[in-house]
Amino acid sequence: SMHTELEKLLDTTTGEAEREVSRKDFEGFKNLFHRFLQVKGPSVEWIKIQRPPEDSIQPFDKIAARGLPDNVADSLNKLVVVKLNGGLGTSMGCKGPKSLISVRNENTFLDLTVQQIEHLNKTYNTDVPLVLMNSFNTDEDTKKILQKYTHHRVKIHTFNQSRYPRINKESLLPVSTNLSMNGQNTEGWYPPGHGDIYASFYNSGLLDQLIVQGKEYIFVSNIDNLGATVDLHILHHLVSQPNGKRCEFIMEVTDKTRADVKVCGGGPAYSNPQGGTLIQYDGKLRLLEIAQVPKAHVDEFKSVSKFKIFNTNNLWISLAAIKRLQEQKAMDLEIIVNPKTLDGGQNVVQLETAVGAAIKCFDNALGINVPRSRFLPVKTTSDLLLVMSNLYSLEAGSLTMSPKREFPTTPHVKLGSSFTKVQEYVNRFESIPDMLELDHLTVSGDVTFGKNVSLKGTVIIIANHGDRIDIPAGSMLENKIVSGNLRI
Ligand code: UTP
Repeated sequence: SMHTELEKLLDTTTGEAEREVSRKDFEGFKNLFHRFLQVKGPSVEWIKIQRPPEDSIQPFDKIAARGLPDNVADSLNKLVVVKLNGGLGTSMGCKGPKSLISVRNENTFLDLTVQQIEHLNKTYNTDVPLVLMNSFNTDEDTKKILQKYTHHRVKIHTFNQSRYPRINKESLLPVSTNLSMNGQNTEGWYPPGHGDIYASFYNSGLLDQLIVQGKEYIFVSNIDNLGATVDLHILHHLVSQPNGKRCEFIMEVTDKTRADVKVCGGGPAYSNPQGGTLIQYDGKLRLLEIAQVPKAHVDEFKSVSKFKIFNTNNLWISLAAIKRLQEQKAMDLEIIVNPKTLDGGQNVVQLETAVGAAIKCFDNALGINVPRSRFLPVKTTSDLLLVMSNLYSLEAGSLTMSPKREFPTTPHVKLGSSFTKVQEYVNRFESIPDMLELDHLTVSGDVTFGKNVSLKGTVIIIANHGDRIDIPAGSMLENKIVSGNLRI
């Protein structure tokens, strides 16, 4: 009956091209759904987990120490930059694609990406294209914006990831039909995670097109990771491997810090979104995500000592290898079951996969332990405050930490719920405070900041319910707690 339900849905789509896309989506979904039904028990056996061998995760410094050859441009011309652009800005209270949120001097994530690649192409006289993986949620809005880059020195391609039906948690039937209003049922569908890139990139025909153009590798990353710039040393490492030892997949990992695992009062003290860690399993490198960890081992998994590194989702992957694995239908990525409650209260699940989980499928896969600066995700307005501040400077689309900061660590910023939505956050700062000497900032309640405020050390500002605290223009707060009706 799953089949008939879905076939009915497909009938409502018009146009031959659109039908073809729907058919491929359906095939992909059917496959994922069948695998989901077959899954028995956890995807890893804890006792079989081994530490990755010494040389399978190399320090970035070692890779960089080899220096760069004269023909950097030749390597660059084999590269394609891919940004994962299927996600919306909902968690920061924005409608539309997350990539279109302004992050610094009116520049959006997408603007910064285009500037970075354009700079690269101008500097090396190369032709590195940008590929955006959109979803049905982001495609239309993104394409409108792309027109403004027509005269920039970067060729931009897009393809759409799949659109799968959400299924009822109990019946496992697609929910779309029950919700359908005028054939439009946005709640009935979802983009099935970034692991979908392999199938949808291949199905779109773009992968083949790029191979024909002589492209060999893609550098994939989350569009909200402002640290994910093209690194020439990693690229050089990839292209200079001798035949027979060709590395098909590099995952950039980085060290966990104490703050990444710190918990207080049962919940995480800082919202550090974290990918999985790398393990050795059945003789290959594998990504282990927290969802795959049995309850009894979660603390062990989170600890800094045993699993030191985590996936940044900056990945370098061979195009030919993706093509081969797709043709062999040899990618069985672990299924992430993501439960959701729809507006009407219905409990559904979405079956998803993660792009990094494919590491186990590729030959000679490698981890590179990169500096934390290559992992600068903007998930919340607290992250946004940091990247908008004078802690960073912007150059050709890249953010670098100000040399004026004494230690190259970022302060811990925790803005309360009145700052969650970007619009509210923006309205609460007349200008972004000086944060060069800040270590820790907590703000809670109805708080506003005047112009040219400066924050140093540990600053905690708490407006109780019904109160409002306005930090006056020009104030300097150093190791201070401001709360209740207290005025400074
Ligand atoms: P996420 O929202 O999944 O971020 O998007 P996250 O919380 O850091 O989770 P993981 O651990 O990376 O999964 C990460 C990037 O992937 C894109 C988003 O647009 C964002 O750039 N994405 C996510 C897609 O393109 N498609 C999807 O189906 C999901």
